[in-house]
Amino acid sequence: MNILEKVLLQIGVLKYTMGANLLRRFQLIKDFIYSAVGNEYKISVKEKKRLISEFLKIQENVKSMTPLGLWMEMAKEILTIPEEMEGDIIECGAYLGASSCALSICASLTARKLYVRDSFEGLPDDEITYTAPYTKTKIRYRKGDFCGKLDLVKQNIAQYGSINSVVFIPGNF
Ligand SMILES: C[S@@+](CC[C@H](N)C(=O)[O-])C[C@H]1O[C@@H](n2cnc3c(N)ncnc32)[C@H](O)[C@@H]1O
Repeated sequence: MNILEKVLLQIGVLKYTMGANLLRRFQLIKDFIYSAVGNEYKISVKEKKRLISEFLKIQENVKSMTPLGLWMEMAKEILTIPEEMEGDIIECGAYLGASSCALSICASLTARKLYVRDSFEGLPDDEITYTAPYTKTKIRYRKGDFCGKLDLVKQNIAQYGSINSVVFIPGNF
């Protein structure tokens, strides 16, 4: 196989993977919308569609370390907690607040509070080395990485989430 054929093959594989990923994501969203998720809180299909479009808006506008699929998994869990069960939601580690936006909307839909706990100064320790589980790639993090200042996180949640459902707890955990 010459270089050109190899490149074309790579492009083909890439396109196939992207197409397969898109289809999978579409299926996940469809399953979420038309499932029994949210029945506990009388959340309609229309409201679930709105929730997904809000998630997509967050994804477009606020950089996140957490993919949309995980927000949907968290939403599924929260929206199926029995209504009579007392309790709130806490996120430890907000970065720029993208997941906080998603979780705050779920908190609002279920009349719970979302506690957002963070130093708002980024990672506390120097030189944390993390080995990715599948690729075994080593990633080195430094003190201050993933810093999202409190004002910016608040601004993001006010714009893309439900700020009235959020209680901020600045400080180390
Ligand atoms: C990887 S980011 C979180 C990503 C975020 N959940 C998202 O979905 O985009 C890690 C966050 O945890 C915070 N953090 C890490 N260790 C902390 C600690 N010991 N105390 C307080 N905050 C901490 C950092 O400030 C940063 O905002």
